[in-house]
Amino acid sequence: MRSYAKQVNPAWWKVAVAGLVSVVIGSSTLAVRAEQAKTTKDAVYSDAQAKRGEELYAAQCSSCHAADLSGGGAPALAGADFLGFWDKTPAADLVEKIQSSMPANSPGSLTRAQAADITAYMFKANKFPAGAADLSADAAALKAINIAK
Ligand code: HEC
Repeated sequence: MRSYAKQVNPAWWKVAVAGLVSVVIGSSTLAVRAEQAKTTKDAVYSDAQAKRGEELYAAQCSSCHAADLSGGGAPALAGADFLGFWDKTPAADLVEKIQSSMPANSPGSLTRAQAADITAYMFKANKFPAGAADLSADAAALKAINIAK
């Protein structure tokens, strides 16, 4: 019987192998990049910032979300349900949600810096560690930090 396998041009195999190798190298480079992205477990806010956020929260958010962030009429902003909902979401989305739609009775009244300060307080209440630097209010910086439950 005639064997078709023997007729395969050796050069074709070299191209195929080279392609496979570059796919493997490419995906391991991506894996390294993914590891370098920060999460809320990497000390991404400061205690001083969380303190500022706590004052804003008490004045503008606690009436609906409760003093201890446990919610009531409005969703809880700390705990398993909250973290489950926001898990793997960039911090940028949370800051954006707060700045564009909260407080629900006066949306758009917070500056981005104030929304970032309140977010820092929420990170503290969710038991994420504090670090040396503030959580940035910059959208690009916030996109590089994922919320992790
Ligand atoms: C007048 C009541 C009210 C006030 C005040 C208020 N909220 Fe809300 N908030 C709500 C309601 C109702 C929802 C649910 C609907 C929605 O997501 O827009 C909500 C949703 C949220 C969510 C999304 C929660 C989730 O997991 O889906 C966040 C975050 C949030 N509020 C933060 C804040 C912050 C921070 C403040 C203070 C600056 C604040 N809220 C003040 C009523 C309020």
